[in-house]
Amino acid sequence: MNYNFDQEINRMKTACEKWDDLETRFGVNDVLPMWVADMDFKAPPAVIEALKERVEHGIYGYTYRPDSYFEAIIDWVSRRHQWSIKKEWITHSPGVIPALAFLLRSLTEPGDKIIVQSPVYHHFFRVIESQGRTVVNNPLSFKDGRYRMDFADLEAQIDSSVKMLILCSPHNPVGRVWTQEELTRLGEICLKNNILIVSDEIHFDLVYNAYKHVPIASISEALAKQTITCFSPSKTFNIWGVQTSVAIIPNHDLRERYNREINSMAIGWATPFGIAALESAYRFGEEWLDQLIEYLEGNVEFVESYLNTHIPQIKLVDPEGTYLLWLDFRELGFSMEELDQFMLQKARLALNEGHIFGQGGEGFMRMNIACPRTMLEKALLQLEHAVKQLSPTGKSEY
Ligand SMILES: Cc1ncc(COP(=O)(O)O)c(C=O)c1O
Repeated sequence: MNYNFDQEINRMKTACEKWDDLETRFGVNDVLPMWVADMDFKAPPAVIEALKERVEHGIYGYTYRPDSYFEAIIDWVSRRHQWSIKKEWITHSPGVIPALAFLLRSLTEPGDKIIVQSPVYHHFFRVIESQGRTVVNNPLSFKDGRYRMDFADLEAQIDSSVKMLILCSPHNPVGRVWTQEELTRLGEICLKNNILIVSDEIHFDLVYNAYKHVPIASISEALAKQTITCFSPSKTFNIWGVQTSVAIIPNHDLRERYNREINSMAIGWATPFGIAALESAYRFGEEWLDQLIEYLEGNVEFVESYLNTHIPQIKLVDPEGTYLLWLDFRELGFSMEELDQFMLQKARLALNEGHIFGQGGEGFMRMNIACPRTMLEKALLQLEHAVKQLSPTGKSEY
């Protein structure tokens, strides 16, 4: 079956975070939204059917996670990621960010230091700080158009207060799919220093064909014991609304501590809709996902060739995974505020401002390309016109 990712679907007036009430977030309304990380595509038909069937039943009371739910997850992870996981390792959370909060609360103490690698998904900073823990930043290095981990800086920053590293794998926003070698090196440093790894792998299904995602916990038994892996069908199949994600915790002691935390707040239960959507996505969504990845690859190529041909001042950092493109605007010479205003007021585009992702994000913008190609064309045309109207120095207009 061929799925139609070209279909334009009006999301307005659905209380849609990405499309509705942009005035509150951006101060303007008529801008094309390419920011928050969800897709402008419908979920796979099999998921919509499974949800309809569940809705038709009419009773939505207390629901436990049945064996079929665990089997769907185990099979998916084994088939797509060659990682063999056990049923008892699979814990529930309504989302990955909530899981990070519960993990911080249950596995670290107030004041403990938590490592992140910026520029990185901005909610990492917020969740660490909101739990009263301290962020330690190990910035990625950016050389010759490619981001790499800086292991020397990481080792230099480790002391006895560092208890956890939150890894973003694949990495949002820079689009790296970390190699087995990189993850092994990172893992060795964490093992040597007794640092827990929380690996946020929410983008793990969204990897381009030339690359291969490696779950860090699959590399060795020692790493499995020291790693908690968080993922969800929410990004892959565009089903955030059903509030279902998992944390894989092979280490019995860590798992007990996590479960005590979520049970104390009575949030360890998935909803009937979360269960139906997850199972149908993992059982019947594979062909849809393969076609989605192909479509996204087409979108990446389109952006790359458009920028090269028409707006060469803006550079695309080659994405290896995720539908989030990391665009380098530094050649235009704008300050942080100027770039934000230029995108909104002149290009009429709402992207995520690079600086929200922490050190190293200034001068960049994150563009969500999980949309029909017609929308991408419109956005790039707007951007091209805006850049062409700048004076030769760019900056002097502001
Ligand atoms: C790396 C990463 N982690 C977590 C999330 C959000 O997860 P959730 O909505 O399940 O809390 C996102 C969403 O963009 C993300 O990019």
